Amino acid sequence: MTARDPDAAIRAAALSDLPALQAIEEEAFAGDRLDRRAFRHAVLSPTIVALVAEARGALAGYVLVQLRRGSAAGRLTSVAVAQAAAGRGIARLLLSAAEAAAREAGCGRMRLEVRADNAAARRLYETGGYRRFNTVAEYYEDGEAAWRYEKELG
Ligand SMILES: CC(C)(COP(=O)(O)OP(=O)(O)OC[C@H]1O[C@@H](n2cnc3c(N)ncnc32)[C@H](O)[C@@H]1OP(=O)(O)O)[C@@H](O)C(=O)NCCC(=O)NCCS
Repeated sequence: MTARDPDAAIRAAALSDLPALQAIEEEAFAGDRLDRRAFRHAVLSPTIVALVAEARGALAGYVLVQLRRGSAAGRLTSVAVAQAAAGRGIARLLLSAAEAAAREAGCGRMRLEVRADNAAARRLYETGGYRRFNTVAEYYEDGEAAWRYEKELG
């Protein structure tokens, strides 16, 4: 069981977070990265929930959820945590805040894709109540497959 960071707090992302969001992105992903423009769009878009975690005075992670008009499913498009803040329950906290925001926006379930070789993220989702319902071959830039997960938000 991951220990919780007692100082971690979740809030909506702001434009002033863009440099820190990009730094986390570069540290977290080798490819398929979001650039500054994509983060800017996410922060400003009324159909994207963009949340950040702050811990010990620094940005520790973020999560993005796409809300599609007319769809009952929110799509969790990315979650990442700074290496310096890993293993303290920040991703779990972000995931649960993202689910609450999607539920509040009227979504009955959450969907997401994860790299088949990303064991840590798959474990995060599987222990968080997500079930795999599909795989998509050659989904990522480097040809890796995606596993698709879904969770009923109740
Ligand atoms: C995956 C990631 C978001 C986890 O962030 P984190 O804040 O360290 O995770 P938490 O401390 O909240 O851990 C939550 C759960 O995730 C899983 N997990 C996290 N890190 C793990 C690791 N290194 N190995 C195995 N499972 C891991 C565990 O199930 C853990 O719960 P448990 O310890 O109670 O079993 C983080 O490692 C990351 O940013 N990775 C790079 C980006 C990425 O892969 N994002 C997901 C894209 S779909």
